[in-house]
Amino acid sequence: MPEDRALALVGLTKRYRETTAVDGVSLAVAPGEVVALLGPSGSGKSTIFRCISRLTAADAGEIWVLGTRMDDLQGAALRAQRRAIGLIFQQFNLIGRVSAIDNVLAGRLGSVGMIRATLRAFAYADRQLALAALDRVGMLDKAYQRADSLSGGQQQRVAIARVVAQQSRIILADEPVASLDPTAADNVLTLLRSIARERGIGVLCSLHQTDLARRYADRIVALKRGRVVLDTTAAAIGADELARIYHVVEGTPAVQTMAVAEVSRRRA
Ligand SMILES: Nc1ncnc2c1ncn2[C@@H]1O[C@H](COP(=O)(O)OP(=O)(O)OP(=O)(O)O)[C@@H](O)[C@H]1O
Ligand SMILES: [Mg+2]
Repeated sequence: MPEDRALALVGLTKRYRETTAVDGVSLAVAPGEVVALLGPSGSGKSTIFRCISRLTAADAGEIWVLGTRMDDLQGAALRAQRRAIGLIFQQFNLIGRVSAIDNVLAGRLGSVGMIRATLRAFAYADRQLALAALDRVGMLDKAYQRADSLSGGQQQRVAIARVVAQQSRIILADEPVASLDPTAADNVLTLLRSIARERGIGVLCSLHQTDLARRYADRIVALKRGRVVLDTTAAAIGADELARIYHVVEGTPAVQTMAVAEVSRRRA
């Protein structure tokens, strides 16, 4: 039932002229659950994120966020529902020239255009909330440092603090660790998972590394050319098996079909 899910997609489809970027994708994320989205370059991961956040309009299918269908929303209802969605990208989407805390406060506004005019007017309560969020991600000591002077891993932690302060109910993270070294990647994913658990936030996170998906996700969904070719609990799939499927997913269709069929058989 989509109603009790943090996020549910039902038959999501998005076409660009001759390309079907997302082709009937159905998947669900429960509150507090981390779902890894795997798939080779061009398989539709970012397009799925853009459809959910309504940066682009889907051609068909349903998008459910916290029991509400996003597709039907307009105006104030759409803006309110968008605030429930926290976004984290590979390219650290912070405002470079302002401090970490001002970036976190920007999440409270829900609109980048309003930031400059109102930054100074933030209530004491908002600043306390922002500082608490920075403390939660271990960045309190850097609260007043410019975002563009922070390391990649630190910027990603500020981005997480921002979605925490925004009080997001779901987090969409599009390759959040693709630009980080292995240690920073571990730190960011550990943080994402513990915040998901403690606040009951559903996390959909695209990754390119199968080992990280197995270590940090509860479920793994793999895409190929816009279609779901694997949807399994992380615990149910071995490292070799996942690596093979993931690489076969990029290979020939016949072999890939065999590999997926084999996994389905073992799970049955
Ligand atoms: N605005 C667009 N116009 C035309 N085609 C697009 C557009 N955006 C995406 N596509 C196409 O849709 C398909 C899916 O792209 P998408 O960016 O979702 O892949 P991805 O899985 O995120 O890849 P990567 O791992 O490289 O980030 C690709 O074939 C891409 O070329
Ligand atoms: Mg992408």
